[in-house]
Amino acid sequence: MGLRSAQWYEGQGRNAYIHRAWMRRGVPGDAFTGRPQIAIANTASDLTPCNAHLNEIAQSVKNGVYEAGGIPLELPVVSLGETQVRPTAMLWRNMAAMATEEMLRANPVDGVVLLGGCDKTIPSLLMAAASVDLPAVVVPGGPMLTGTFRGKPLGCGTDVWRLSEEVRAGVLSAADFTRSESAMIRSRGHCNTMGTASTMALVAEALGTVVPGVAGTPAPDSRLLEAAHGTGRLAVEMVAADRRPSTFLTSGSFRNAIVALAAIGGSTNAVVHLLAIAGRLGIELTLADFDRIGSRVPVLADLLPAGRFLMDDFHRAGGLRAVLREVADLLDPEALTVTGKPLVSFLDDAPIWDTEVIRTRAKPLVEHGGIAVLRGNLAPDGALIKPAAASPHLLQHRGPAVVFDSIEDFHARIDDPGLDVDADSVLVLRGCGPKGYPGMPEVANLPLPKKLLEQGVRDMVRVCDGRMSGTAYGTVVLHVAPEAAAGGPLALIRTGDIISLDVKARRIDVDLPDSELAARTPAEAAVAGFATPQRGWERLYVEHVLQADTGADLDFLLGSSGSQVSRESH
Ligand code: FES
Ligand code: MG
Repeated sequence: MGLRSAQWYEGQGRNAYIHRAWMRRGVPGDAFTGRPQIAIANTASDLTPCNAHLNEIAQSVKNGVYEAGGIPLELPVVSLGETQVRPTAMLWRNMAAMATEEMLRANPVDGVVLLGGCDKTIPSLLMAAASVDLPAVVVPGGPMLTGTFRGKPLGCGTDVWRLSEEVRAGVLSAADFTRSESAMIRSRGHCNTMGTASTMALVAEALGTVVPGVAGTPAPDSRLLEAAHGTGRLAVEMVAADRRPSTFLTSGSFRNAIVALAAIGGSTNAVVHLLAIAGRLGIELTLADFDRIGSRVPVLADLLPAGRFLMDDFHRAGGLRAVLREVADLLDPEALTVTGKPLVSFLDDAPIWDTEVIRTRAKPLVEHGGIAVLRGNLAPDGALIKPAAASPHLLQHRGPAVVFDSIEDFHARIDDPGLDVDADSVLVLRGCGPKGYPGMPEVANLPLPKKLLEQGVRDMVRVCDGRMSGTAYGTVVLHVAPEAAAGGPLALIRTGDIISLDVKARRIDVDLPDSELAARTPAEAAVAGFATPQRGWERLYVEHVLQADTGADLDFLLGSSGSQVSRESH
């Protein structure tokens, strides 16, 4: 089969001349005759500090592409810095995916190497690659090295939540809190906890889209450059083999991703991202699959936020392959990787080097891991909880709701000494779903009331239609679907209603008869806070975004259009 790029470059006509001539800026003379054009979709950006080093990685990819006979072409794509972008990076995930998909399709490229790191970047790149369906392989940018503060390691994200609670509880001074800031980010790379970035890199490898053994390599590690070089070579091979996402990603690949997600104790955000990627491939994947497959899997990675260690410990201890080897019987033996070989074929030589960091199957961190999917009259289409990050004593709980109509309402009232709240209360926050906020921000891990923190309370049941950071912890019921702004019953709840959570029974309910719920109308203060954007991306997003239980993609972006472009530009 001829190269796709030949549609631009082949022949003696005027258009081929134009396509070639403008690209002759130092490339070899034979660049346009039979050599695969490999795009490097690069999310490097000074405003995405976790990905700022990807230009160096791109250079190694380029070397590998050239070496294998291809032509590397750097393509800067929309980048999303989790900590900087407002109102939430998730609002822009689908935009980044759409822009990357269209630019890959519009340009004369035959294959693509995807460079991502910070939370939304790998998901958006994979969504794009699935929809344009060109040979594609990910190089994850890798986690940063562990910084220390006063002799103790700091987990990015997780320790911000912990230290800020300590300030509010009066056990850490504000000055010391600020002092820890410059110790938090020790090196290039993404968050070093098992947050969303680490999770998505590892899950992308389990899915088959990263060369096995590469994900989790720390960003400053020389071996990452070597892997990037090798991945550049591989991209050229993938074009020759016509190894596109649709040719090797199957429901078995997603099963492997879910097993990995559970065994590493990964972020709840991976659920929305995997659902969205599957939606682009037309592979049927539901919330129920995550519970059914994941709940049989033990958590083996003892990493923050659920455990003790950090990503460079994880890599030193053997990394993802060592984890997967322990649960190899749960994996789909046929699911392939970008290499053309099955994932399981890479697990033979993958020992655990430190059984404190990566537990054996016989001594797991948590017997049954995964992400539990709850249903009930509060979440007819489902909600999630990550039991490993929750408090065991709260997994079955009944308590009166204290309802907040927006995050601003929450901040205004949560520390009010007069707020009627105790340790048994259930904090409910609504208006934070995909449509309502918009963009489904990471706010579900609500800070606890100051007066309760001072009494020593460290966890409470919280319920929200938003997400939480993968670095966060607590008994948090999140991704409630439908969200309040999409007609979900969360909009009907009043302070004082009794909420009951039963994780074992997979239920989240409000103690009200159906007739009472049916008779209620959405709270006016909540409705007043729902987003009503008038123009631009936000308007497009709010009008078309789907709910969390199906991946929060835009309805018209589901599926794939392939890489065909029917018309010339001149
Ligand atoms: Fe970029 Fe955590 S903020 S990975
Ligand atoms: Mg995050």
